[in-house]
Amino acid sequence: MSTTQLKHIISTSQFDRKTLEKLFSLADKMEKLHKKGKPSTILAGKIMSALFYEPSTRTRLSFETAMLKLGGQVISTENAAQFSSAAKGETLEDSIRVINGYADVIVLRHYEDDSGERAAAVSQVPIISGGSGKKEHPTQGLLDMYTIRKEMGKNDNLYFALMGDLKHSRTIHEQINLISLYKGNRITLVSPKSLALPEEYKKILRANKVSFDETEKLSDVISTIDVLSVNRVQKERLPANISYEKIKDLFIIDMKTVSAMKKKSIVIDPLPRIGTILPEVDSDPRAAYFRQAQNGLYIRMALLHMLLKK
Ligand code: NCD
Repeated sequence: MSTTQLKHIISTSQFDRKTLEKLFSLADKMEKLHKKGKPSTILAGKIMSALFYEPSTRTRLSFETAMLKLGGQVISTENAAQFSSAAKGETLEDSIRVINGYADVIVLRHYEDDSGERAAAVSQVPIISGGSGKKEHPTQGLLDMYTIRKEMGKNDNLYFALMGDLKHSRTIHEQINLISLYKGNRITLVSPKSLALPEEYKKILRANKVSFDETEKLSDVISTIDVLSVNRVQKERLPANISYEKIKDLFIIDMKTVSAMKKKSIVIDPLPRIGTILPEVDSDPRAAYFRQAQNGLYIRMALLHMLLKK
C-alpha cells in the first residue's frame, strides 16, 4: 500500500516494506525539523483530537507535541472513560461522529481490541490508533522498527528475543507483524507458558517464514541476540486465573543480563518499565529505550504529515 492510500492508521498490517521505508525517511526529516527548534507551519489550521480511554504518557504527549511542532493545534481528553460522555453511556461510534465535526484527525486509545476498526468505520477524518486493547498499537510498532533501523542499521537478518507478557502485549503483537515484513529475521519468544504468544501471531510468523522458537529462560539466548525487546506484564489485561504477584518479577533485566549481550546489540521497551529493566542498565550504550521514546515523536510527526498534508 502506498502512503497516499493510507486514510486511517489502525494496524501495522496496513503497511508494506515500501511504505515503511517512506515513513522512516520522512521521520528522519522530522527529526531534523525538530532539532532546528523552530515550529513549522506545515499543518497550520489543522486540529488533532487525542481521545484516550486508557492511561498514557508517551503516546499522547508525543502525538500532541508532534502536532504542535508541525504548527497544528490539539484538543485532548486524557481520561475519556471517566470525563467524556462515555461515562454517561455514549457509544464510541457516537463520540467519533461528533468529534468529526471538530477535528481533522483523531488519535484514539481504547481498551477494546476492535476499537480502531469501529472508529474508522464511522469516521470521515483519519483515525490513528494509539492502542486498541491487547491487539493493536501501530504507532508503537512503527517507532520500534524505526529505532531498530537507526540503532542496528537494518531491519533484516536480525535475531530477536521478544520477552514478557507475549499474550496480552499489543506492542509485541505489532512487532510480530512488522518483523515478518523483513527478510532473514529469527525470533526466540521468552515467556512462561501462561503468557505465551497466541497462535494467531505464530501463524503470521509461519506464513512469512520467520523462524522462531520458545523458551522460558532468556539466558538460553542472551549472548547471541541482536535485539532484546521486553514489555511489562499487562496487569490490567490479565484474566482472573493468572496471579500478577507470581509472575511480576519474571522479566527483570539487570546489568548482569545486559553484560552478556553482544557489544552491538540493543534493549528496547515501549515503557513504562514496570518489572522490566533496572535503572542500573540506563547508562549502557545498549540501553536504547529512551532513544526509542524520543523516536516516537519523529514517527508521529511523520504520520501526521503523511495523513494531513495534501
Ligand atoms: C505501551 C502500551 O500502552 O501499550 N506503552 C506505550 O504506549 N508506550 C506498553 C505498556 O503499557 O506496557
